[in-house]
Amino acid sequence: MLRGAIIGFGAVAANGHVPAYLNSREAKIVAVVDRTETRRKAAEESLPGIATFATIEELAAGAEIDFVDICTPPALHGEPMVDALRRGWNVLCEKPLLLDLDELERVRILARDSGLAVVPVHNWKYAPIIRRATEALHAGTIGSLREIEIETLRIEDCAAADPAHPNWRRDPALAGGGVLMDHGWHAIYLARHWFGDDPIGVDARLHRATASGIEDEATLTLHFPKGPAKIFLTWRAETRRNTMRLTGDRGEIAINDDTLKIGNEEIRFESALSAGSHHADWFAAMLPDVLAGFCSPEQARESFEEAAVCLSVIRSAYQLPIGF
Ligand SMILES: NC(=O)c1ccc[n+]([C@@H]2O[C@H](COP(=O)([O-])OP(=O)(O)OC[C@H]3O[C@@H](n4cnc5c(N)ncnc54)[C@H](O)[C@@H]3O)[C@@H](O)[C@H]2O)c1
Repeated sequence: MLRGAIIGFGAVAANGHVPAYLNSREAKIVAVVDRTETRRKAAEESLPGIATFATIEELAAGAEIDFVDICTPPALHGEPMVDALRRGWNVLCEKPLLLDLDELERVRILARDSGLAVVPVHNWKYAPIIRRATEALHAGTIGSLREIEIETLRIEDCAAADPAHPNWRRDPALAGGGVLMDHGWHAIYLARHWFGDDPIGVDARLHRATASGIEDEATLTLHFPKGPAKIFLTWRAETRRNTMRLTGDRGEIAINDDTLKIGNEEIRFESALSAGSHHADWFAAMLPDVLAGFCSPEQARESFEEAAVCLSVIRSAYQLPIGF
């Protein structure tokens, strides 16, 4: 049984991660670090008997652990990650893994030199409807993949539990970006996963309500060797929905929230892709792969590289001239 500590006990930790750990026979959360007392109390209520701490130094002095699970806002992933690796702990970290390419390179070297794993939470790959679509793709149902379309419609950004920064998703200093950094990250690793290749170019148009603010809408084309992935993300839609379409040279796979269409076959799933924001069942499905990566860090390198591609695409998009 691997022993873990959650760093940042906010909305995703409480609603997305804890239920999966409570049902796991391979990993147990033995400690929680949160800088606010309110959230440490929330952890004590969710996980009776848990040790809580205000800092990682206190955690290191007060608990024996094998890994950390970082669930702080994006700009606060890097510091606990480096600290954890230096203390000999494996790392699971929410997306966006890191915001800065130089920092990512330092973490890559540190993890490799210490023989430890850094695994990003790329949980959308584990959504039942997406797994089924991926299986159909890999089974050759639509022939060779030629184009991907991914649309994420939201009427606003997701609520946060951080009492000190309830609106961190709209604060560039904490979020590192807007809807592209938040939702685009998932779309980019899905496109790479489905094409089985790295993108070779990106075009992007971003909408910002104010010049210094984050983007609330993004239109992106990633160019892969076999074709494009067209991505549209918005926080200003009138409805909440996720759609995806994979077009091959012999057919099409389409996801419309809770419905998967493979050719003429239509399959309904229990929950829509856009239902909820924390997806405890997807996290539970991902956890065995994460723990396998902790046991053999070489196995975890691919998921780190997947995150590296997400960051470099987003960084390139932010450097392009801003559109509409
Ligand atoms: N993979 C997904 O589907 C998914 C879904 C939601 C959120 N997320 C990601 O999870 C992360 C957290 O999002 P959230 O919505 O839970 O945010 P949140 O604001 O609800 O929670 C953040 C928590 O971190 C704590 N915190 C902040 N700074 C800290 C520090 N320096 N040390 C210790 N604790 C600190 C806050 O007190 C708060 O409890 C983000 O990176 C977000 O992008 C991923």
